[in-house]
Amino acid sequence: MKILIVGSGGREHALGWKLKQSPLVTELISAPGNPGLAELGRTVPIKADAAGDLASFAMREQVGLVVIGPEAAAAAGLADSLANVGVPCFGPSQAAAELEASKAFMKDFCGRHGVPTAEYKVFDDAIHAKAYLGGREPPFVIKADGLAAGKGVVIAETRRDADAAIDEILFLRKFGAAGQRIVIEDFLPGEEASFFALCDGETAIPLVAAQDHKRAYDGDKGPNTGGMGAYSPAPIFTDAVRDQTMERIILPTLRGMKAEGRPFVGVLFAGLMITPEGPKLIEFNVRFGDPECQTLMRRLKSDLAPVLLAAAKGELASAPALAWDARPAVTVVYAAQGYPDEPLTGSVIRGLGEAGAVEDVVVFHAGTKRDEDGTLRAAGGRVLNVTAIGATLQDAVAKAYAAVNRIDWPGGFCRRDIGWRALAK
Ligand code: AMP
Ligand code: GLY
Repeated sequence: MKILIVGSGGREHALGWKLKQSPLVTELISAPGNPGLAELGRTVPIKADAAGDLASFAMREQVGLVVIGPEAAAAAGLADSLANVGVPCFGPSQAAAELEASKAFMKDFCGRHGVPTAEYKVFDDAIHAKAYLGGREPPFVIKADGLAAGKGVVIAETRRDADAAIDEILFLRKFGAAGQRIVIEDFLPGEEASFFALCDGETAIPLVAAQDHKRAYDGDKGPNTGGMGAYSPAPIFTDAVRDQTMERIILPTLRGMKAEGRPFVGVLFAGLMITPEGPKLIEFNVRFGDPECQTLMRRLKSDLAPVLLAAAKGELASAPALAWDARPAVTVVYAAQGYPDEPLTGSVIRGLGEAGAVEDVVVFHAGTKRDEDGTLRAAGGRVLNVTAIGATLQDAVAKAYAAVNRIDWPGGFCRRDIGWRALAK
């Protein structure tokens, strides 16, 4: 079958790299894709959130499966448009994507279905929001309701900072329409993990967990980002924690979404805080994590195509079990100078061939573009994802940085301590 991957980042390149290895796949097409995906197949210049155009294209091309990468495509109703033309789609409907697109919806949903998460309240006016802080303990967690590319969360140590954050979101509209409402919630102490489950509306299959590094600079300093690096497995995510997460979070959510008329199809990404009372939900995403996905794809041994197709068709209950490489995988994000605030684009990148030649390393493109003469340039904030697998995490990290060191890109920077938390154990 032909597979169409929607999106243009490192996550989509990693999914394409994995799907391309499937004997079921005759052609891999991506929209809009990137120079990495272009090495795997055709790219078509249709934007990820152009739901109608993508559906017409998929129908015309007789695509056998569409795989949605980014949340914006799901929130734009791509799965609904594809359902209308009868093309199987791995990814949630617009109604199901509310789990990520509205934090207020997600929190109220958790309340209705007993999913453990932090205490919270939703506000659309600053006066009541600030008054609510009076009865809570710092640090205060203040979140824009809508999609804000992972930047819509402020953790304030003082009332003054919290008040300022409320004003910035509700009055100054720092996150635009995403900040029409805010969620204020209690701070959950603990260590975070990202966990993923494949869903077909009724059945969920656990994947594995990963840990991300959200801050821009070494030592978890600097501004929040979409993620500067990841590794899998996450040592804190034991089998017992996984079972609790399935029983208390993933399965009640799947049942609740079905009961509310929004059956969830696709990958459910639970951002978790592992607390002494067990895993608690920080947020849901309705897609693979980026860069967590890159580490998962390096570790997955089974063919990905049939299982994504089974999820799209509501047939996960009879899908074969997935096999994983026990070895750890790591991804180092190489970002453009200035990321996340104002990444400098256009700088020339050399040495990817040399980097990819390091044993057990694959370099995924996340934000690149190629000139007609073949020159590769930075075209986004997070630009490259250098991934490695190794006998130990230490070994994987060493390989990844050996590859990073072969990349000739003065316009970029990366964290040098990816994996530190797990290595310190
Ligand atoms: P989110 O976009 O909701 O994942 O939040 C971004 C980051 O803020 C998370 O990865 C956590 O590090 C942190 N965070 C969000 N909510 C909480 C919370 N209730 N308690 C502690 N940290 C949080
Ligand atoms: N790496 C976190 C995310 O994809 O939201």
